[in-house]
Amino acid sequence: MNDNVNNKNINWYPGHMEKAKKEVINSLKLVDLVIELLDARIPYASANPLVDDIVKNKPRIKLLNKADMADKEITKLWIEEYKKKGIYALDIDSISKYNLKKIDEVSKLVLAELIKKKEAKGIKAQSIRALIIGIPNVGKSTLINSLSSKKKAKVGNKPGVTKVLSWLNITDFLQILDTPGILWPKFEDQTVAYKLALTGAIKDDILDIEDLAYKGISFMKELYPNRICEKYKLEDLEKEDYIILEDIAKNMNLLLKGGKPDTLRAAKLFLNDLRNQKLGAISYERPGN
Ligand code: G4P
Repeated sequence: MNDNVNNKNINWYPGHMEKAKKEVINSLKLVDLVIELLDARIPYASANPLVDDIVKNKPRIKLLNKADMADKEITKLWIEEYKKKGIYALDIDSISKYNLKKIDEVSKLVLAELIKKKEAKGIKAQSIRALIIGIPNVGKSTLINSLSSKKKAKVGNKPGVTKVLSWLNITDFLQILDTPGILWPKFEDQTVAYKLALTGAIKDDILDIEDLAYKGISFMKELYPNRICEKYKLEDLEKEDYIILEDIAKNMNLLLKGGKPDTLRAAKLFLNDLRNQKLGAISYERPGN
């Protein structure tokens, strides 16, 4: 894999994007199915802006990864919403392997027509090949490792492709390319960038920590007010976000010399709590928003 595009701290320049896109387009030629990996907490923000253009009409399934960290009720809504739109989707946890066995089943559903056509022509439905795509840090490598813990598959050269590709046998039906396609997120949108930072998909050293904490506070105020009140002993959320951060610092006894609230330490504490599930499973996006 290319170091330039395989690092979650990458600065995506137009050249990198073009290269990543080309690599995905080349890999797409080799597969019957695309597995688009998304973060269940931010299914919209964790999608590549051009994914429809890139994947075109190739059969696709969406996997909402890190479902263990998302609000289960909201994830259900997302799956229902996709179903309504005729999109095959599944919530998974690549670490505990929750629902990974169902990937084969969902792949068969989405490819049913192709399989039927092949069978009508007398071609026995053989195994199909899939490519996993997603933005950095969404869990592609973890998923591939979890899926391939059983058996490593054949390695073979394909005409027109310079590097050696290896395919992993997931089931008798499904093989996946062990090199995922890496695409860039929608970072031109400020709100998306904040959601990516709040979930840890992009490093927060490129953002102002306190500013990011205000965004997190604002999300929590709107979506899970009780949790933030309980955790930091807050009584009143009808205040500006920066005042709430000061309240968190005071209530958690994070004070500077002289007794002023240490808002930088409070911001770091809050962001760590948010990312480490100390404030519970959180979904930052709801369908239709
Ligand atoms: P990538 O190949 O798409 O870039 O992502 P990768 O597999 O490296 O996963 C990124 C981080 O997400 C890893 O954490 C990994 O353990 C975690 N992760 C992947 N899938 C899941 C999941 O289903 N649930 C949970 N809770 N975590 C998941 P890491 O190595 O600790 O990296 P970081 O958190 O320090 O960035």
